[in-house]
Amino acid sequence: MEIKVTHTTKPFAKPIEQEAAGSLGFGNYFSDHMFLMDYEEGIGWHNARIEPYHPLALDPAAAVLHYGQEIFEGMKAYRAKDNRILFFRAKMNAARWNQSAVRMCMPTMDPELYCQALNAIVDIDRDWTPHAPGTSLVLRPAMIALDPCLSVHPSKKYLFFILCSPSGAYYKNGMAPVSIYVEEHYIRAAVGGTGYAKCGGNYAGSMLAAEKAAEMGYDQVLWLDGIEHKYVEEVGSMNMMFVIDGTIITAPLEGTILPGVTRDSIITLAKDAGWKVEERKLGIDEVYQAAHDGRLDEAFGTGTAAVVSPVGRLSYRGEELIINHGEIGPKAQYLYDRLLNIQLGNYEDPYGWVTVCQ
Ligand code: COI
Repeated sequence: MEIKVTHTTKPFAKPIEQEAAGSLGFGNYFSDHMFLMDYEEGIGWHNARIEPYHPLALDPAAAVLHYGQEIFEGMKAYRAKDNRILFFRAKMNAARWNQSAVRMCMPTMDPELYCQALNAIVDIDRDWTPHAPGTSLVLRPAMIALDPCLSVHPSKKYLFFILCSPSGAYYKNGMAPVSIYVEEHYIRAAVGGTGYAKCGGNYAGSMLAAEKAAEMGYDQVLWLDGIEHKYVEEVGSMNMMFVIDGTIITAPLEGTILPGVTRDSIITLAKDAGWKVEERKLGIDEVYQAAHDGRLDEAFGTGTAAVVSPVGRLSYRGEELIINHGEIGPKAQYLYDRLLNIQLGNYEDPYGWVTVCQ
């Protein structure tokens, strides 16, 4: 793929002080450049380019603005100690991108092209990959439907773009345990819906419940299944894992939860550590029963942004559980350390997950 590069003449100030102070936050700053590429039915993907970061001009009738035909991804580039810039499981991310695209009636992309685009934008803005522990360059590929027409139909024209955001931890307290409210009324997804696709609408639909939870003092919402409101699904920004009697239990991939790249990696690392992992339906009543019996060892979320986030408090029907005394559990800590050190190139990567930005 040929990529036309226009360098910025007005580089942004890098958030160096915020990085040093540990106050970068998540997704607040953007690098100097962005990658863009157009799609048109009959032509395919074309006009790959890197341009200075800039606002997009859209027709106010563009389909994305009315019917939400949009997908995005979450990835990170990490700075290794030797200053190489590393990607984690970019190919798997590309595969999930295409699954989301198919579900939303949008054009897919050759995974090689997707990875090449990521490499090109990260290479040009490699200096924007932060150095401080716990930071990374968050990558945000996105695709939007452009047809200026108010009838509901799949667009013929799309824009693909990638943004780079030097970021710290997703949760303001880093790896400290988070509090979760189990939502009983609202649902995130149902079988046959778009739950497994990374489309903006899934996140827009989650905000009302998240606001309600925040008002009650909780960081996040844990979604239950859409039919019986009984089985734990995911948190929205992360997949969930519960450790009961030493076994890690997580919801199965049946179309309602995001097939997390971190979820898959953690399952592999946990099995390789000799731990039992079950991907199965887990009732919230089973979680509570285990807690009452003293068998709920730990709970934690997994996600690109969240990495491994222990859950310290869980609230359901007015009963609050304090999990593992509200502290980081040993399995969460081990898996966090192991995953992060592979991502950073500190540990050997026996899985072939890490690739180097060229
Ligand atoms: C990620 O984990 O990178 C995501 O994209 C989740 C996002 C909603 C913060």
